[in-house]
Amino acid sequence: MNKDLRLFLSQIVSKPYQVVALAPSSAALCQEMVAGLDPNKGPVIELGPGTGNITRAILGRGIAPHMLHSVEMNPNFCTHLRESFAGVNVHHMSACDLDRLGLNNVQAVISGLPLLSMPIGVQRDILKDSFNSLAPEGSFVQFTYGPNPSVNADLRKEMALSWTRSDKIWRNLPPARVYRFTRPMH
Ligand SMILES: C[S@@+](CC[C@H](N)C(=O)[O-])C[C@H]1O[C@@H](n2cnc3c(N)ncnc32)[C@H](O)[C@@H]1O
Repeated sequence: MNKDLRLFLSQIVSKPYQVVALAPSSAALCQEMVAGLDPNKGPVIELGPGTGNITRAILGRGIAPHMLHSVEMNPNFCTHLRESFAGVNVHHMSACDLDRLGLNNVQAVISGLPLLSMPIGVQRDILKDSFNSLAPEGSFVQFTYGPNPSVNADLRKEMALSWTRSDKIWRNLPPARVYRFTRPMH
């Protein structure tokens, strides 16, 4: 078993309510999460990077490490990310405090958070801060293992979100879909 997987599994055991996954995201899911990222379109925020499978895929799209801000609340994951991805801005903090980073004109927020399992107030804070950081045409990208869109229905309505949905990605444990949420310009 490789070092990343050993760390991920140990954190599932010690912090099951934060990790909320059976395994790290597969290469197929990671590729769908980062589709469309463009090195010339501004910074990217990643929420809940864990051991960094999606981080690697974001950098694989040509995003410069200093243009990537990865927000992770687990200190063990943060140490691992800093060792693995030189130059990436790894922020040891909760995604609920995203506004503290003061970022704007972000092209995408790529979320590996267990968003739907969080209280609705927490989801609202994360989404509001994310859309405040995003460029007008920017998107909030979130996968889900379940049958419904990966943002709570009340919040989708409240924030007037539009979305697209990927095909089901069978090569992931468990199979998942990726949703891209945008907010119409006012
Ligand atoms: C399902 S794992 C996803 C890990 C990785 N992105 C992947 O797809 O393999 C969820 C991650 O979100 C992190 N997390 C959970 N709640 C968080 C919060 N409020 N702020 C920042 N990170 C959080 C966990 O520590 C964990 O790394």
